[in-house]
Amino acid sequence: MKALNLFPLTIAQDIIVIDEHERTILINEIEKMQSTNKKTNKSIYAWTGDTKGYEFIFSNNIFKNLSKQISTSIIKYLELFEINTDLLDIFYQRSWATYTNNEENINFHTHSQSNISFAYYLLKPNNSGGIIFRSNELQNEIAKNIFTSSKIDKSLINKPNAYNSDKSVFDLEQDGIIIFPSKTPHATMPNKSGKPRISISGDVTIMLKDSKGFEHLMPNFKKWKKF
Ligand SMILES: [Fe+2]
Repeated sequence: MKALNLFPLTIAQDIIVIDEHERTILINEIEKMQSTNKKTNKSIYAWTGDTKGYEFIFSNNIFKNLSKQISTSIIKYLELFEINTDLLDIFYQRSWATYTNNEENINFHTHSQSNISFAYYLLKPNNSGGIIFRSNELQNEIAKNIFTSSKIDKSLINKPNAYNSDKSVFDLEQDGIIIFPSKTPHATMPNKSGKPRISISGDVTIMLKDSKGFEHLMPNFKKWKKF
């Protein structure tokens, strides 16, 4: 039998190349942010710069090369969907670092205020934890909750595969980037490496250069009228 898989969720993986000197400069900058505005209590959750006052790091010139390379990957991602990027203005709406110490993780969340999100692994020791994606709307769920992990424990489902899973983990290597629709629920696995993991995350907003004749995509902010 042949399976015809329709209406997928497309998550893209790419590699960003930076030299070790640049990596050291960026890591030092992020460690400075993290030590200036530390977590208030000892929690199991990672330090995330977006809620600590460091949500626009790409405004700092030292991230210029990195952000330029990430832009290229994001344009390639849009082109997977045959979107004509010539018609768009594309913005980094927010950009921040995450700093995950040993045993820490990030809970499931979405970035519902933007279109596309990404995570680039600036510092990624082995076993420092991958990213998990979850779907709340499983197209193949022929009976409610049939594809939860407990059904595997009870041997109703023989083994998880791409057609019957509500979660999927990607454990990228250092310098890998993962790009996904911002509305996709995601979390991170606990860091088990004994060393810190640093990622750079960001939210991207797309808008039409010229919205004439279009109904759905965001019109250009230059035409917006402030109260
Ligand atoms: Fe996130």
